[in-house]
Amino acid sequence: MSTAVRIEKTGATGLVILNAPPVNALGQGLRAGLIQAVEALNADPQVEVISIYGEGRALSAGADIREFGQAPQAPNLPVVLNAIEASAKPVVITLHGVALGGGLELCLACHARVALPSTRLGLPEVTLGLLPGAGGTQRLPRLVPLEIALEAVTTGRQFSAEEALAAGLVDRLADGTPHEVALQAAADVLSSALETRRTSDLKADVDQALIAGAVARLSDRRPVLSAPIKAAKAISHAAEPIESGLKAERSLFLELMESPDRQGLVHAFGAERAVRKIPETGTPRNIASAGVIGGGTMGVGIATALLTAGLSVTLVETTLERAESACLVVAKNLDGAVKRGKLTQALRDENLQKLTPAVDYDALADCDLVIEAVFEDMAVKTEIFSKLDRICKAGAILGTNTSYLDVNQIAAATTRPEDVIGLHFFSPAHVMRLLEVVVADKTGSDVVATAFALAGRMKKVAVRSGVCDGFIGNRILAHYRKSADYMLLDGADFDQIDKALEDFGFAMGPFAVADLAGLDIAWANRKRKAATRPPEERYSAIADRLCEAGSFGRKTGSGFYTYGSGKARSVNPDAEAAVQAERQAEGIEPRSFSDEEIVSRYMAAMISEAVRVLEEGIAQRPVDIDAVFLFGYGFPRHLGGPLNYADRIGAANLVSRIESYAKEDPYFWQVPALLRNMAETGQRFAGLNKENTDGS
Ligand code: CAA
Repeated sequence: MSTAVRIEKTGATGLVILNAPPVNALGQGLRAGLIQAVEALNADPQVEVISIYGEGRALSAGADIREFGQAPQAPNLPVVLNAIEASAKPVVITLHGVALGGGLELCLACHARVALPSTRLGLPEVTLGLLPGAGGTQRLPRLVPLEIALEAVTTGRQFSAEEALAAGLVDRLADGTPHEVALQAAADVLSSALETRRTSDLKADVDQALIAGAVARLSDRRPVLSAPIKAAKAISHAAEPIESGLKAERSLFLELMESPDRQGLVHAFGAERAVRKIPETGTPRNIASAGVIGGGTMGVGIATALLTAGLSVTLVETTLERAESACLVVAKNLDGAVKRGKLTQALRDENLQKLTPAVDYDALADCDLVIEAVFEDMAVKTEIFSKLDRICKAGAILGTNTSYLDVNQIAAATTRPEDVIGLHFFSPAHVMRLLEVVVADKTGSDVVATAFALAGRMKKVAVRSGVCDGFIGNRILAHYRKSADYMLLDGADFDQIDKALEDFGFAMGPFAVADLAGLDIAWANRKRKAATRPPEERYSAIADRLCEAGSFGRKTGSGFYTYGSGKARSVNPDAEAAVQAERQAEGIEPRSFSDEEIVSRYMAAMISEAVRVLEEGIAQRPVDIDAVFLFGYGFPRHLGGPLNYADRIGAANLVSRIESYAKEDPYFWQVPALLRNMAETGQRFAGLNKENTDGS
């Protein structure tokens, strides 16, 4: 018998206990163990009922994602689940923690389901580019109304145990440990207090028109993702006898398993977890209280994120009035979280009690962590850090939220550079998941470990970055953003560029993003760098012209686009005029660009700079860069991040693209040495990650 499954017998009850830490993923050992256990208990004359439950934090998180892409190992999950459903003796299952994907499909194949009230249930396969391939699309609509089944398989949404009970997905809720509940459930089956039946004996109420409507809506979305469409189509087979429905489901599932979107989405799942593996092994410091300097958008967002992670926060501004009004914005942010169901009213009140406005830096003396979030000016920042050095207690961590300034220089303003670290949040800081942890030359290993632990408490994805102008994300952004400016100069319209990239999968194109971020911010940055701009570099002054005319984007109602009250944007004729004027001034004969060329150039620019960031050791692994873009820059999740996407194109293709663009602009389009080397040796970025994150 596999070690992942254990049998315990109590009277007429045969308990089958799953034990594959951390989340009882249904790997080969667990699958084989399950089938053996059910067979053994069916053959045991003492046993009248079989009761399954899981050891540890969850019943099961579904198929073992680490097996994706490997040669299939028998028995496969459908075979196991069909055998369980066919069991002559009744099989009841207890759900706790989570029952997701194949874990929930296991429940559907059992003859009765009892859940602990805190269980979360769902079929998240679609978020991994898959559909439930072990009967989920056939058995679920036999138990719950079609609308609910469609929602579950096409969105991957998780359901609470109460919702599951109301829908008919579980038969009852029960309190206790999984072991106690499993024993009681078995006793109830024996006494007929809990009814058992095979799900496949039930009839699904399949309204084909409803499914066709869902398929049509999903096909209209951009980008078009095949997993939700195929999941909906699989449900339409639930009208057939179970054997033929299962066959149709399996064949759609196998098609998806081979799709590049599946690889990209699984990589994105793995990236979120892989970035936690950092070289620093220090023990995290204890962080209970924090100070935030600066009550602007960033400071307020950071204070909100820290409060919701359970810290007490002192918010420092230049006047008490400003500090208090910043605290009011924090309260508004927390109210928003309550409205979105992310926070209870009681917890919101408790959090707010822990927020203190202050003017004097002395109020930060006892804080375990201080994060500076004032405007980007090195002189101001070094002054703040030398002040913090004098005031803060020994062992306090001093963080800066700078988005591009030199953290080594900031650290040098203190006598304790080992305590100084960059904590680059993304706006709005209480919503965006990315946190770049910028490790300076002297940052202590325990300080890095503390930053990662804190990110976990804030439910953020922390990525380790070295020091350079813009760190991982903004440095790469600054480069590929220029490729969009050059295409605009050379003849592509900004709305065509935006639309091409939005169709490709970005939430917003670069000009729409620039309007949202504020054209004045990038303008200030360009002015800062003007003196050091290399003479060979092309420069587009289009955005400068808009700024000179007072058009800063959304905040002024116009930028590249004009904005009304809603979300809709329309092309700003003044921006079009600025484009024409700039082309004329530069003597450019505009040419047309296909959408494909726009995407190709934009991605080649992004990947080139990403490779340089990797070569220089600013990012440690390709997956770190992928995570930065997935969680901070709206990179299309199904493409897995810039370097995961680069593997789809292939290093050799990328080199030849860059070389062909370099004929017009050899300064901007340079082939990074690492990429050239990869092209020559046939290496992939996936091979440079320390672990396989995507089952490819
Ligand atoms: N397979 C393999 N490993 C898994 C896993 C899975 N299905 N789910 C989680 N893990 C691993 C994680 O990678 C992580 O490993 P490390 O500690 O080495 O990083 C560990 O379990 C703990 O996971 P988290 O850090 O994510 O812990 P959490 O408490 O934040 O979340 C969870 C737990 C809700 C289960 C979350 O991990 C999750 O959502 N897992 C994926 C669930 C899923 O999508 N299942 C469907 C799989 S596809 C399928 O089942 C269909 C089929 O038939 C093929």
